[in-house]
Amino acid sequence: MNFEELYQIKDEIEQINKTYDIFDEEHRLSSKAARVEFLTTVKYIEKYLEPGMKILDIGAGAGEYSLYFAEKGYEVSALELADNNIAAFMRRIRPDHKIELIQGNAVDLSHFEDNSFDIILMFGPLYHLHSEEDRQKAISEAKRVAKKDAVLFFAFIGNDMIFITELNYDSDYIKNGDFDRKTFKMDDFPFVFHTVDGCRKILENGGIKILHEVASDGVSELMAEKINNLDDEDYETYLRYHYYCCEKPEMLGRSNHLLFVGRM
Ligand SMILES: C[S@@+](CC[C@H](N)C(=O)[O-])C[C@H]1O[C@@H](n2cnc3c(N)ncnc32)[C@H](O)[C@@H]1O
Repeated sequence: MNFEELYQIKDEIEQINKTYDIFDEEHRLSSKAARVEFLTTVKYIEKYLEPGMKILDIGAGAGEYSLYFAEKGYEVSALELADNNIAAFMRRIRPDHKIELIQGNAVDLSHFEDNSFDIILMFGPLYHLHSEEDRQKAISEAKRVAKKDAVLFFAFIGNDMIFITELNYDSDYIKNGDFDRKTFKMDDFPFVFHTVDGCRKILENGGIKILHEVASDGVSELMAEKINNLDDEDYETYLRYHYYCCEKPEMLGRSNHLLFVGRM
């Protein structure tokens, strides 16, 4: 599979599935730089997580978050769409993990009962669902299966930082890149990109009250080489710096990933 072949796939679900023939989800978060997104997100989840809480991980990928919390003894249900990611996730589950993994689409959580989960993670479907109708279906399903006091975590890919990130990889991006020259809206392929304000509107339309807006990886991908070369002590200081500023409003547009935390 290459990007041209992927582009030819018009069925959205099949396109999402095949996207992960190209992107290696199992190893995506393994470098120090990439780990910033994971560690920041976990830090926010752990603000609300209490012993015995039940977690639903929607768009679980190769299971990075599910496995982390299952390792700590939590009961985790996970839903994932892509064949490759399901296979990678299954290989990583140990018999002592309390994980239920099912293959499916975030817009239909009928496998799960109403009012079942304390913590809901949706780190993936909103990177891919093109229509507002589908995004609202996914949010509404997440709310249906959430307990009344549940905390819901949503991730988006930030439109305005992607321009800089792409330019950093490709100096011809300004000439050849796929973006609108007037509005700087990135073309929604193979991911769907949102401005900070766009994310807020989606969640507000879905009846989510926002508790935190977080630049979850900030400039980490841009600075990857330098961050990956930090020794452990300096990396800890970098992380503290990142935590210090990741909720500052002026940082939000400067992050490839945006984490929103909310309640119903
Ligand atoms: C970039 S990966 C992120 C995986 C993991 N949640 C993480 O944050 O590391 C996005 C994941 O969302 C999944 N996904 C996208 N749209 C989905 C949908 N409509 N229903 C279920 N999973 C979906 C993809 O298959 C992919 O595994």
